Amino acid sequence: MSKDLILGIESSCDDTAAAVVDRDGNVLSSIIASQTHIHSHWGGVYPEFASRAHALVVVPTIEKALAEADVAGPDLKAIGVTRGPGLIGSLIVGVNTAAGLGLGWNVPVIGINHLRGHLRSADLVERRVELPAIVLLVSGGHTFLARLESLTSIQLLGSTRDDSVGEAYDKVARLLGLGYPGGPAVDKLAKTGTASIPFPRPMLTEGFEFSFSGLKSAVGRYLDKNTVAHADVAASFVSACMEILLTKCRRALTAHPAKSLVVVGGVAASPQLREGAAELCDSLGVKLCLPPLKWSTDNAAMIGLAAWDYLNEGFSPPLSATASLAITEF
Ligand code: KG4
Ligand code: ZN
Repeated sequence: MSKDLILGIESSCDDTAAAVVDRDGNVLSSIIASQTHIHSHWGGVYPEFASRAHALVVVPTIEKALAEADVAGPDLKAIGVTRGPGLIGSLIVGVNTAAGLGLGWNVPVIGINHLRGHLRSADLVERRVELPAIVLLVSGGHTFLARLESLTSIQLLGSTRDDSVGEAYDKVARLLGLGYPGGPAVDKLAKTGTASIPFPRPMLTEGFEFSFSGLKSAVGRYLDKNTVAHADVAASFVSACMEILLTKCRRALTAHPAKSLVVVGGVAASPQLREGAAELCDSLGVKLCLPPLKWSTDNAAMIGLAAWDYLNEGFSPPLSATASLAITEF
């Protein structure tokens, strides 16, 4: 018997994930098979190894998610699978697996934009987002600000010209010998240090665009020339990132008044960013919408919830893996 449940599948980068989600965003199961142990050796994601690892674990991960949610494949309403953006080999594994399962189970398969998944992560379990909203998406692959009026009306305000903020965290973690992935380790070390080093804040004073590669290089040059406590370097780097992100959010909320500020993507797991955004929203009287901590980084529950939007609104982009996709696309 058909149940009102969607299976989400995510394999755009280095996590293989499957989840079962109902139309209200309740998560019946969410399984994430991490590849950290494979990539930590290289200090970053090694694309060929990522796609091979996805191919090995994707089916068992889906089986686990279905079993935990107590639903059989043919009884699903639909399958939502990340079609991009991301690593092409990794995306192909998820898309082809979903296409095969959909055929076998006679269930529709919808290709989902990973960025729209992150966007919807703020409504998992509980509806939080009130429109219009300003969205700050901060992940390993992307950093941008957008204004959201509805799912079909998204205006990109500005994105990064070079590195994403997550990439800067990962590169600084490598410079500090903290391993991969770097975000949580940098945050933790930063809490024990003093933000005493005046690292640059590129593009701080105007606009909605970002640039993080100069900041990352400044940290590298500083470490080459000085013997300092690494905790102070981490604290100073995090402080520069926070000032940049929060200044741009304030500017966006002032220029484009909104009911909510939505902060999503892996870096939304940062306690410093969560606290800074909460203070900013308090001061402006805006609602802060954050995803549950465990679904800030890549997961399939957010893909499942986004798939409900696609189903409800009749969006059906081509079911093909696509390395580049903008937030304004489906
Ligand atoms: O959204 P995500 O899981 O994958 C992409 O779509 O890119 O984001 C991963 C990024 C990595 O760069 C990682 O270092 C960063 O999110 N990240 C964090 C934290 N947890 C993950 N950055 C700062 N603080 C964290 N606690
Ligand atoms: Zn992501």
